[in-house]
Amino acid sequence: MTDTTSKMAICMKLDGPKAVVIKEMPLQPLKAGEYRIRIRAAALNFPDLLMTYGKYQFKPELPFILGMEGAGIIEELQDPDSDFSIGDAVLVKGKTGAFAEYMTATYAQLAAMPNTLTFEEAAAYSVTYLTAHVSLVDKARIKPGETVLILGAGGGVGQASVDVAKAKGATVIAAASSEAKLALAKQSGADYLINYQTDDFASEVQKITNNVGADIILDPVGGEYFEKSLDCIAWAGRILIVGFAGGEFGVLKTNLPSEKGCSVIGVRAGEFGRRDPAAGRRSFEQLIKLTEENDLKPLIGKRWPLDQIKEALEAMERRDVIGKQVVTIA
Ligand SMILES: NC(=O)c1ccc[n+]([C@@H]2O[C@H](COP(=O)([O-])OP(=O)(O)OC[C@H]3O[C@@H](n4cnc5c(N)ncnc54)[C@H](OP(=O)(O)O)[C@@H]3O)[C@@H](O)[C@H]2O)c1
Repeated sequence: MTDTTSKMAICMKLDGPKAVVIKEMPLQPLKAGEYRIRIRAAALNFPDLLMTYGKYQFKPELPFILGMEGAGIIEELQDPDSDFSIGDAVLVKGKTGAFAEYMTATYAQLAAMPNTLTFEEAAAYSVTYLTAHVSLVDKARIKPGETVLILGAGGGVGQASVDVAKAKGATVIAAASSEAKLALAKQSGADYLINYQTDDFASEVQKITNNVGADIILDPVGGEYFEKSLDCIAWAGRILIVGFAGGEFGVLKTNLPSEKGCSVIGVRAGEFGRRDPAAGRRSFEQLIKLTEENDLKPLIGKRWPLDQIKEALEAMERRDVIGKQVVTIA
C-alpha cells in the first residue's frame, strides 16, 4: 500500500548543492495518464549539478525536485489502457523528480527494466547509455573495427560510451585523469588507456594508431580537450560534442575540419527523441537489445542515502567521482 508522504530532495534556490534540502511532503492524487513509482534507486548525472546553479539548458521553475533518472516499482496508475501494471519494475527518465521516495511520471517516461540489470544499475542506465548510443550509433554511425577515443572515460557518459563502443565492435582508447578512472574504463573493456593528466592524449593516440588518428572521438569534457581532439582525429573522422564537464567551451578553428575532412557533430540525446519520437524509440530499443545481448552495465562507484544528496553533488563538483553515483532509497 502506498504511503501518504514522500521524502524528496528539493532545490530551493540556484546556489549549487548547498541549496538542496530534504523535505517530507504529502503525496498528491494522480491525474489522468500519471503513474506513481516507488523509487528503489536513482542516479546522479552532471546536469543535476548544473541545474542547482541554473546553468543547464533546461531551467526548471524553483523550487524543484532534483533527479533525472531512477528505477522502481509501479504502485499506482491512472492509465486504464496501459501495458504496464501495478507491481511492474520500471526505469523512469525525466528532467527532474527522481531523488524522492515516490516519483510521478507519464507513460512516455517509463520503460521496462532490462532483465540483466539490478535496480541500482537500471537507475544509472538510461541517461548515460542513451547518450552513448545516440552519439555513437545514430550520429557517428560507428562501424566494427573503427578506433574510438573516449574522453572522461571514467565518468558516467564516458564509461557507458566505452561499453557501447566495445559492443559495436570498435577498438576503444579510454582517456581520463586518474589511474582509478582508467581502471573503471578497463573494466568496461577499453583496449588502450591514456592518463591525460600526465600525458598528451593527442600524441598518445597518434602513437597507438600509427599516426592514423581516431575514427571517432567522443567528448563530454569540452574546452582544451575538444581543441586537442582535432590533433588526433583521423581523415573523415567524427568528433562528437557531448558535454562541457570541464566548464569551458572549446574554440573551433574551422580550417582543421577542412584539412582533416572530418565532421564535428553536436549531440543532445534527449532532444534527439523529442524531435523525432520514432527515431528515439528505435534507438532505445536497439540499446536495450545490445545491453541484454552483451551484458552492458553501468559501473557504480558510490552509493549514497537520499539524505546525503548534497554531499553526492559536491563530490561530482570536485571531479571526485568514478563511474556512477547512485542514491539508494528503498
Ligand atoms: N549531450 C547530451 O545529450 C548529454 C547527456 C548527458 C550528459 N551530458 C553532458 O556530458 C557531460 C558528462 O556528464 P556525466 O554525467 O558523465 O558526468 P560525470 O560522471 O561527472 O563525468 C564527467 C567527467 O568529466 C571529466 N571532467 C573534466 N573536468 C571536470 C571538472 N572540472 N569537473 C567535473 N568533471 C570534469 C571527469 O573526468 P576526468 O577527471 O577523467 O577528466 C569526469 O569523469 C556533462 O557536461 C553533461 O552535461 C550530455
